[in-house]
Amino acid sequence: MTTNYLVIGSGIAGLTFSVKIAEKFPNKNVVIVTKANEDESNTKYAQGGVAVVLDKENDSFKKHIKDTLIAGDGLCNEAVVKMVIKEGPDRLEELMLWGANFDVDASGDFDLGKEGGHSEYRVLHHKDITGFEIERALLKRAHQLPNITILPHHFAIDLVTNHHIKNLESSELSCFGAYVFDQKTGHIFTIKANSTLLASGGIGCVYGHTTNPVIATGDGIAMAYRAKARIKDMEFVQFHPTALYEEKGESSFLISEAVRGFGAYLRNKDGYRFMPDYDKRAELASRDIVSQSIDNELKKSGDPHVYLDCTHLDMDAFIKHFPNIYNKCLEHHIDIKSDWIPVIPASHYLCGGIKVNKKGKTTITNLFACGECSRTGLHGANRLASNSLLEALVYAHNVFKYLAKHDESIVDVTIPDWNDEGTTIPEEHILIQHNLKQLQALMRNYVGIVRSNKRLKRAIKHLDLIYNEVEDLYKESKITTSLCELRNMVNVAHLIIRQSLDRTENKGGYYNIDNVKK
Ligand code: FAD
Ligand code: SIN
Repeated sequence: MTTNYLVIGSGIAGLTFSVKIAEKFPNKNVVIVTKANEDESNTKYAQGGVAVVLDKENDSFKKHIKDTLIAGDGLCNEAVVKMVIKEGPDRLEELMLWGANFDVDASGDFDLGKEGGHSEYRVLHHKDITGFEIERALLKRAHQLPNITILPHHFAIDLVTNHHIKNLESSELSCFGAYVFDQKTGHIFTIKANSTLLASGGIGCVYGHTTNPVIATGDGIAMAYRAKARIKDMEFVQFHPTALYEEKGESSFLISEAVRGFGAYLRNKDGYRFMPDYDKRAELASRDIVSQSIDNELKKSGDPHVYLDCTHLDMDAFIKHFPNIYNKCLEHHIDIKSDWIPVIPASHYLCGGIKVNKKGKTTITNLFACGECSRTGLHGANRLASNSLLEALVYAHNVFKYLAKHDESIVDVTIPDWNDEGTTIPEEHILIQHNLKQLQALMRNYVGIVRSNKRLKRAIKHLDLIYNEVEDLYKESKITTSLCELRNMVNVAHLIIRQSLDRTENKGGYYNIDNVKK
């Protein structure tokens, strides 16, 4: 298959780019491959909303820029921060033109929420299911455009680059498309593309405990890494402070930060409200500080979780704003009106990823990245809440703007078919599950919120064993999605641990006890 634009991923980043480029060039084709149902993505589960400066009376770009820089703890790229925040209103307007709805108050103004690290109310939301609404609107628009083809249940295995191509004279590392696995038929085929966009989302599932859905296995980052693209800031994994604690469950439902913005308190089991002891912004300190504080409380007490107390809040208003959270808690026999919600931090977001410039270009020619898989410099050492959807919108637009002016034509190359000669169907699928559980436990125990050099070095040793087992399995087996995902997660874990060991100064979401002692 050949296309002008190959997009890997159908979350906010991939869909926004696809819609824009397809609208601009009705005669060019966009193929979106996406590994699950077309709407399955981190985007679909976003709750709090999109941070944008709309209330110019009380808020300003300057304040949002300042909040983002403070959260990023000195490691943001200031020019990128300014660019993204100033673009926000235009990109949001576009999203609304495509049909996304955001809540308004009684006077018809946007009902703006507040989250950790924000000095003003500036988070636009659709109740507590903002991402669901955005995904719905974008998919609807994408389906209206005849030059977009969406291929659900198609898994991108690897990027095609120079090293796949015989007798290629160019010394410049370029991307020519990807090898794709049709999960329903088992067929592996090549999609050759002038431009390839990685919009493949996050890595949450590398940790056993995560707010992310099961698709978040870092595939795009691992593919780009294997293709030799530059990957940066992987040590900055963001842990969300308030995932619902479930005794047996691993994947955690998120209790939005907007709930704390609404006035909820964090308490330990004795009812003590501990956050004011850690930061004068208390529950609304930035995410890194709240998660590290909870971690400290849990280590002191030995308790499995802390509590989020909403019982003092205006319940009618609460249920109107957070109907999904309210009902989900009821399903768990927690009545927010009278019960405190048991919560713990869980892996939530990756601030680093595939390094891109302001145009969304990676270090490989014809390969672009945007959304959570990319590292733009916006977040620095810690992302400000609700800046991720914003970043995805802005960078999807930037890639679009670049490609609208530069038609990346590729050298006419012959891409060899996928070669799986000598491989067999794995007899023991359970081995993949075993390795996955080992990997997730290792990341949780040794590469969590608080790290140490000893733990990181131990993690590298254990990871090497898992890596060798998984590579052996990969070489001898017919492709399966779970095997490819495991292989990708091992690559991502390696990057997180290695880049953690390289960091000698604690910043934002990165905390290593050995750096404190220095
Ligand atoms: P995603 O939306 O994750 O989309 C990635 C896509 O790539 C998916 O379609 C996936 O199936 C596909 N894919 C991945 N690998 C492959 C492969 N190998 N082959 C084919 N397809 C592949 N951010 C905010 O700004 N505000 C919020 O309120 C907010 N709330 C959140 C709540 C939750 C519970 C979570 C998990 C995240 C939240 N975030 C929020 C973060 C934000 O939702 C994500 O960072 C953002 O949606 C990422 O968008 P994306 O398009 O980059 O990736
Ligand atoms: C949340 O609603 O707490 C998530 C917001 C975010 O990740 O930006």
